[in-house]
Amino acid sequence: MKYAIETFDLTKKYDEFTAVDALNMKIDNNSIFGFLGPNGAGKTTTIKMLTCLIKATSGTGNVAGYDITNNPNEVREKIGMVPQLVSLYGDLTVRENVYLCADFYGLPTDLKISRADELMELVDIKYAQNKLVKQLSGGMKQKASVVASLIHQPDILFLDEPTIGLDPTTKRVLWDLVEELNSEGRTIILCSHDMYEVELLCDGIGIINNGVLAAFDTPRGLKDTMIKEQKELKSTKDSNVIKIMEELRKESSVEDSAAFDKIKENIEIRNRDLKELSVMISNLDENMLNHLNKLPSIHEIVEHDSGRIVMDIESSDESVNQIISAIITNGGNITSIATKDPSLEDVFMSVTAKKEEEGVDNE
Ligand SMILES: Nc1ncnc2c1ncn2[C@@H]1O[C@H](COP(=O)(O)OP(=O)(O)O)[C@@H](O)[C@H]1O
Ligand SMILES: [Mg+2]
Repeated sequence: MKYAIETFDLTKKYDEFTAVDALNMKIDNNSIFGFLGPNGAGKTTTIKMLTCLIKATSGTGNVAGYDITNNPNEVREKIGMVPQLVSLYGDLTVRENVYLCADFYGLPTDLKISRADELMELVDIKYAQNKLVKQLSGGMKQKASVVASLIHQPDILFLDEPTIGLDPTTKRVLWDLVEELNSEGRTIILCSHDMYEVELLCDGIGIINNGVLAAFDTPRGLKDTMIKEQKELKSTKDSNVIKIMEELRKESSVEDSAAFDKIKENIEIRNRDLKELSVMISNLDENMLNHLNKLPSIHEIVEHDSGRIVMDIESSDESVNQIISAIITNGGNITSIATKDPSLEDVFMSVTAKKEEEGVDNE
């Protein structure tokens, strides 16, 4: 089985309102998949259909090799789910809740006890095993919910915004657990708003907006697409400016046309494949700046406080090599280097804003 999950025009309507609109996704087996989207985008609705809690209006999906419409019981055996709102019994203890889940899956008593112990230790909740769930803090409830969802050792684990409102230590425990479960061969579907979390954990990402899948790629692929689109946009804008300038130039004096040529040349340089390189040099001086200004791969240098310079450079590995070697050869002491790529947050904002501009709105 290559895919843990495949959906085929998966759709959910509430009366006239389409909450999830013809979703087609393929999620690799043994991956950590991040499912992102603004509030109300359709993440929880999708997860509920895939975990057979609600029925799709049309379309369907395969989860762990079983069809969610025709084989929901087989699907339920293979999956675990940590819902957005913890759904444990408040008047039962942590251990009692975990046992209840184990009984639901028909686990023999010895296995039920040993796994409950093991999992409670793993997420560090065993100390509260005899407390009523209603007496627990948010983080403790979330941990108890995770233990309950893992008791039958599911192949696929769905986590719906599992770390929202948790303290950094508890978050870290859950992140470590996700990585550990994945290294054991399980697939994790993680709904999240936390870009740091997604970037840290996920191999693949789907961004859903207004029920429509707006982007689907690896984190690197999403960023590369964004860089490419930004370049194309800039290039279109610049060529429009050049066209207008050429028109103006026809009617201008000799002096003015020389100025036009200079501006055009600058735009063309700017339009080349450039990227930003930021370097901190503890002993930066005029001499160093003069050396750097002579390098053809650097188009602009802006000096900041404490020896930091930000350069627009030719976008190639050789140019980075050349610049760094030049700094070192001239006695520069480099304390940090960074190139600027868009963050996952930039991608998220751009993808969700773009779809709104295009008028993808099903309300
Ligand atoms: N039972 C329901 N009846 C009507 N509308 C619903 C129901 N459940 C969810 N919705 C609507 O479907 C949309 C998607 O909701 P949801 O999947 O919970 O979004 P997300 O999890 O991405 O925040 C929202 O507009 C929500 O109001
Ligand atoms: Mg939700």
